[in-house]
Amino acid sequence: MAEKPVCTATQTPDGEDIQREDNIRCLTMLGHFGFECLPHQLVNRSIEQGFSFNILCVGETGLGKSTLMDTLFNTNLKEKMSSHFHPNVELKIQTYQLQESNVQLKLTVVNTVGYGDQMSKEASYQPIVGYIDAQFEAYFQEELKIKRSFVDYHDSRIHVCLYFISPTGHSLKALDLLTLKNIDSKVNVIPLIAKADTICKSDLQAFKYKIMNELISNGIQIYQFPTDEKTTAQANSSMNEHLPFAVVGCLDEVKVGKRMVRGRQYPWGVLQVENENHCDFVKLRDMLLCTNTENLKEQTHTLHYERYRRFKLQKIGFTDVGPDNQPISFQEIYEAKRQEFYSQCQREEEDLKYKFMQRVKEKEIAFKEAEKELQDKFEHLKRVQQEETIKLEEERRQLEEEIMNFYKMKAGSEILQTQACTNVKKEKDRKK
Ligand code: GTP
Ligand code: MG
Repeated sequence: MAEKPVCTATQTPDGEDIQREDNIRCLTMLGHFGFECLPHQLVNRSIEQGFSFNILCVGETGLGKSTLMDTLFNTNLKEKMSSHFHPNVELKIQTYQLQESNVQLKLTVVNTVGYGDQMSKEASYQPIVGYIDAQFEAYFQEELKIKRSFVDYHDSRIHVCLYFISPTGHSLKALDLLTLKNIDSKVNVIPLIAKADTICKSDLQAFKYKIMNELISNGIQIYQFPTDEKTTAQANSSMNEHLPFAVVGCLDEVKVGKRMVRGRQYPWGVLQVENENHCDFVKLRDMLLCTNTENLKEQTHTLHYERYRRFKLQKIGFTDVGPDNQPISFQEIYEAKRQEFYSQCQREEEDLKYKFMQRVKEKEIAFKEAEKELQDKFEHLKRVQQEETIKLEEERRQLEEEIMNFYKMKAGSEILQTQACTNVKKEKDRKK
């Protein structure tokens, strides 16, 4: 908390008191100005605008989540029971417009359907983490818009997560620890022991103690009711001692003495939901809806959303101080980023050009080699063909020579044959 400025009193020439603190002048009030009514303006405006509150209920199927919501808001929100056979955890989001006296409440209840029914633990908690982040992201995107409209923007960021612990009386399950570890930095977690009427009083105390020890030893941060405001400090610090709240839900009314009370009727008696000796339902309702609703919303914005926003901006590359540890403006970062991006683009372009040239050179060399190979092949074939031609020419010449010789021989033999015939004829004639 900021320290109160220390004022030093001095007097004007007419004796008027003036108090100084650095450059701030504090004047003593001489009369009634009416700004004591400022809080009323806030109250009136809030009543006119209405309130909104977003609750996330995480707990295994059938642990009494819907019944507790009905009991908290004393109305039947008409939630259907779900089966144990969901392949994935689904988030069922329902928004209700409730009214009590002249106060309007836009209540959003997000229920985990099928939580804990999967073989893989990751499949059970990841949709929840994803949903919480998605609501932060939606708000972050709205913040980044040039034309923002927060007046009619439905802020769906989760203000509180009611985590329902199975009333085993033993210890937290591995899935409880894993889920809580993954969501504790994103949302205000209030752990609840569900169906607390199924555990006896002494076991319940031991169970609560064990749960708190397990949460601490696993480094899980749950929501602590704030103790820095005078009006609520005492109540809140004593409520912190009662965590996790052991709750029982029921809308039915039963008769106890002459009164009708909300409670669960058992063969041995009645468990009164609103009796603080029977369960912590009233403590939860008071802490959640009467005392700390605004603080839950504030924590969501200033702690959890702030963390998300910081992470997102840092991921994009924004920072509050430069390399020399000096404050740096958004404009300077933007310019530096733009320059960095431009240089990177240039570097990449040059790199690409160089790579392209290299590839072209490699291809050119490859083409030249291929061309040379083809040329050599062609020369070789040409030589072979020339040799073949010469050989054929020689064979043709030899054949022609043989043909000539043949004709010569043929002509000679014909002359000889003619001469022989003539000689035979002459011989015959002579004999006659
Ligand atoms: P799903 O939405 O199906 O996951 O169930 P849920 O967690 O919303 O539980 P639901 O409120 O539908 O209650 C399941 C059953 O448990 C109903 O039969 C309720 O009457 C009963 N039940 C709810 N709250 C309590 C409780 O505090 N104590 C006991 N003993 N039974 C309860
Ligand atoms: Mg339900």
